Amino acid sequence: MKALKGDITLHALDVTDVAAIKALSKDIDEPLDILIVNAGHGTRGEGDFGDLDYDVWKQFLDVNLYGAVATAEAFAPQVKKAKGKIAFLSSKMGSIEDASGGAMAYRTSKTALNMASKVVAHALAASGVAVGVFHPGWVKTDMGGPSALIDTQKSVSGLRDQIAKLTPGSELHLVAYDGDVIPW
Ligand SMILES: NC(=O)c1ccc[n+]([C@@H]2O[C@H](COP(=O)([O-])OP(=O)(O)OC[C@H]3O[C@@H](n4cnc5c(N)ncnc54)[C@H](OP(=O)(O)O)[C@@H]3O)[C@@H](O)[C@H]2O)c1
Repeated sequence: MKALKGDITLHALDVTDVAAIKALSKDIDEPLDILIVNAGHGTRGEGDFGDLDYDVWKQFLDVNLYGAVATAEAFAPQVKKAKGKIAFLSSKMGSIEDASGGAMAYRTSKTALNMASKVVAHALAASGVAVGVFHPGWVKTDMGGPSALIDTQKSVSGLRDQIAKLTPGSELHLVAYDGDVIPW
């Protein structure tokens, strides 16, 4: 928050609260050029197969899948008004082809988000809205931790370039911050 500069308005939102998302959407009745669906529940606190906690797993789905889709759905009218873009922050960890073991809840929530992104892209293509789904890299954030490979500047600058390339109706891929296409 402290790093934010400029003419910025902040609104608090819990993306697991669908009613709150809809209420915020009613308050922001102006065209949106870019909706970045970023909120994510990280891998910490998951059990391993053999010791899975299904209530915890549901919390991952609430944020990473339902929260992301509900945010896109609620703000789609404003993005349509601008013929704008929706960028979902997913993860390479949701790639089935790329997956090693572990992180059941996080991985499955992001795999499902990848599919949901495709459904949203199809639903909005005719209205001139472009949809993308991105892997931000392994980034030094609270989630990525200090051992991560890249800093936030590198990730965000790459993501900005990838979002700029989005066009409505183009085939959706899971794209990394540096432009690499990650197999689904
Ligand atoms: N960092 C990485 O290496 C990495 C790699 C692949 C993908 N990603 C994805 O990139 C996105 C951003 O991750 P990050 O690294 O910035 O993670 P982070 O440091 O853990 O931050 C997560 C963000 O999500 C917000 N959030 C969590 N639950 C929420 C909820 N219920 N409602 C609203 N906001 C909520 C948090 O808000 P509060 O701070 O208010 O809790 C925080 O701003 C996520 O979707 C993540 O899965 C990250």
